[in-house]
Amino acid sequence: MDFEHVVDGRYSVREFSDRRISLSKLRQIVKEAQKAPSWVNSQPWKVYIATGTSLSQVKAMFHRQDVAQAPSNPDLAVMSRDDWGGQTQANMKKWRHDIVAHFSSFEEAHQTMTDAMLKLNNAPAIAYITIPKSTPAWSVFDAGAFAQTLMLAARNQGIDSIPTYNSVRFPDEIKSILQIPLDERLIIGIELGYATNSTINKYRADRVPLDQVLKIED
Ligand SMILES: Cc1cc2nc3c(=O)[nH]c(=O)nc-3n(C[C@H](O)[C@H](O)[C@H](O)COP(=O)(O)O)c2cc1C
Repeated sequence: MDFEHVVDGRYSVREFSDRRISLSKLRQIVKEAQKAPSWVNSQPWKVYIATGTSLSQVKAMFHRQDVAQAPSNPDLAVMSRDDWGGQTQANMKKWRHDIVAHFSSFEEAHQTMTDAMLKLNNAPAIAYITIPKSTPAWSVFDAGAFAQTLMLAARNQGIDSIPTYNSVRFPDEIKSILQIPLDERLIIGIELGYATNSTINKYRADRVPLDQVLKIED
């Protein structure tokens, strides 16, 4: 696939079909993600893919936690939306407004998004990316570059994705299921699979005008 098709074709999928991804394809996209740049080539990332039995265990654990209304406890702290800077807050508000407007009613939007979240979007695989706890903030940058390269590599193989905070809300339980060492920090879960034709997957998030993010001094 040419680069523009890959970049334009990646978007956040919130309902995956039951079709599984072959292990060879999963290996291939992680191998390509390893091409991402990192601080002094430190390559701080590790990837733990939950699929099949281990993913069923992850989903069952999520269900138990949600039924018990367990509080989220992510390794990376979450900041209240009210404390974000003005433009980023406005962008988040617009996203929420646009995605609700994509459905025929607020109730439909709310129900669809809640179901998707509770079912981890029905993903047949989740790639959990970690970095060691003893790394500088720069390694979070490296993990982000790695994650985006992984999602583009996936799209190039015809595989859809979504990075989710939702999938890393219970890191202790995930580390226990996937045998992730406790001295690693769980950064993100990239849910992978094949998109269905549902309404939620037809939504495309907007971007601000180029001149709002770019200043060139010549
Ligand atoms: C760090 C991170 C966490 C995210 N967590 C969630 C999530 O928990 N649930 C969700 O529906 N989308 C989540 N997203 C997807 C964003 O909403 C999405 O990337 C953004 O709206 C832009 O849309 P696009 O990916 O379709 O281009 C997350 C994205 C990032 C980068």
